[in-house]
Amino acid sequence: MDKLLIDGGVPLYGTVAISGAKNAALPLLAATLLAPGDHILHNVPDLRDTRTMLKLLEILGVTWQRTGKTIRINSDHLTGVEAPYDLVKTMRASVLVLGPLLARTGFARVSLPGGCAIGARPINYHLKGFEKLGVTTHLEQGYVEAAVEGRMRGGTVYFDIPSVTGTENVLMAAVAAQGETVIENAAKEPEVGNLVDMLVAMGAKIEGRDTDRLVIHGVQKLTAAESAIIPDRIETGTYMIAVAATGGSVTITDCNPGHLSALTDKLLLCGVNIEEMGESLTVSCPEVDGRSLCRLHSVDITTLPYPGFPTDLQAQFMALMAQGNGTAIIHETIFENRFMHVAELKRLGADIAIEGSRAVVRGIGRDKLCGAPVMATDLRASASLVIAALSASGQTEISRIYHLERGYEDMVDKLQALGARVEKIKA
Ligand code: EPU
Repeated sequence: MDKLLIDGGVPLYGTVAISGAKNAALPLLAATLLAPGDHILHNVPDLRDTRTMLKLLEILGVTWQRTGKTIRINSDHLTGVEAPYDLVKTMRASVLVLGPLLARTGFARVSLPGGCAIGARPINYHLKGFEKLGVTTHLEQGYVEAAVEGRMRGGTVYFDIPSVTGTENVLMAAVAAQGETVIENAAKEPEVGNLVDMLVAMGAKIEGRDTDRLVIHGVQKLTAAESAIIPDRIETGTYMIAVAATGGSVTITDCNPGHLSALTDKLLLCGVNIEEMGESLTVSCPEVDGRSLCRLHSVDITTLPYPGFPTDLQAQFMALMAQGNGTAIIHETIFENRFMHVAELKRLGADIAIEGSRAVVRGIGRDKLCGAPVMATDLRASASLVIAALSASGQTEISRIYHLERGYEDMVDKLQALGARVEKIKA
């Protein structure tokens, strides 16, 4: 398995451009199943997960062509209705084909994802939502089979917790249902808004974008459309935290600073400088003793649905707080098992105790983490290890980096361009 070797303690300087958002690209790719014709998607990141989704679309009969960051997709002739276990087990977001397949063909068979490294992550809200639209679902040999006779009917769907992919899945089904569907307590993540824009471009009628109440007036016909993926706010946040951790000054371009208010607020409290300019922002550390490496104030965070602090940046922020001057309480409220990085961060010298859904991070100050061999456990945990390794003294070897490649485009090249001493070792 490939590894990353990082020689830490080097401040980052320069400019880095942000890629399209993984978590927006996946639902937008799935949405191309809704209507025949040539769909054009711009700014699609080339990641392990987007490749998996394209492979799944191919199994369903879709053809596609990539030119740079643009993908042209044709879904004139669907030849399958099943998302097989082999793909779903490598990427849970495969369940996003359920809604569009139901809308287009009235039937879908998708392997039940099972648990994963960050929690149980059931899809009961998705299924409950489809049932409100007249769909019957049942489990058959580990597969969810969902079917509807004729067109789905509009209905009211309420989510106990605002589920991102649940909202997206039900939304993609409801656009083709007969009559009006209301999704109450819908997720407001920018990736959902990106999908709403694409569906509207395809002819859907949706009100309430960016709110927790989406009203969908089903239409008879949708057509292929051209859309662009929004910048990845989690990749942006990861580089922001990396600069706060290593020191230096980096301008992050092609991003949407407005999507990162919760993180920006916390980093400012930590003592880091952030300057926003349109679609870019500069993160820098004030100089102390001739080095651009400020003392870090410890700051508490609680992960929440958007616009709250994203769970997808919790692990990275913890790597930063490990170097703070006091104690930070990190409260994870979205997933029940998202502290797998703690044991690995401790191998680098971090002082962290887990108390239920809270991690108590006693900062050990700057320049105190020490490189060590560590293992990545999931995508964002890997990013947190990279950040810790970049600021630790000595060398860190990170194994199982395939997790990282699921969601960060060209991370090694981007970090090297900022001056980081990072190298990928092929197994
Ligand atoms: N939940 C249920 N039942 C459901 C659906 C969700 O109980 O049917 C629970 C989950 O277990 C969790 C909470 O509701 O406790 C919220 O989960 P959500 O459904 O919003 O998560 P998701 O849609 O599966 C997306 C992202 C995740 C991100 C979460 C939260 C995609 C493809 N994935 O997952 O991204 O952490 O929203 O923001 O959009 C990542 O990129 O590393 C990643 C894990």
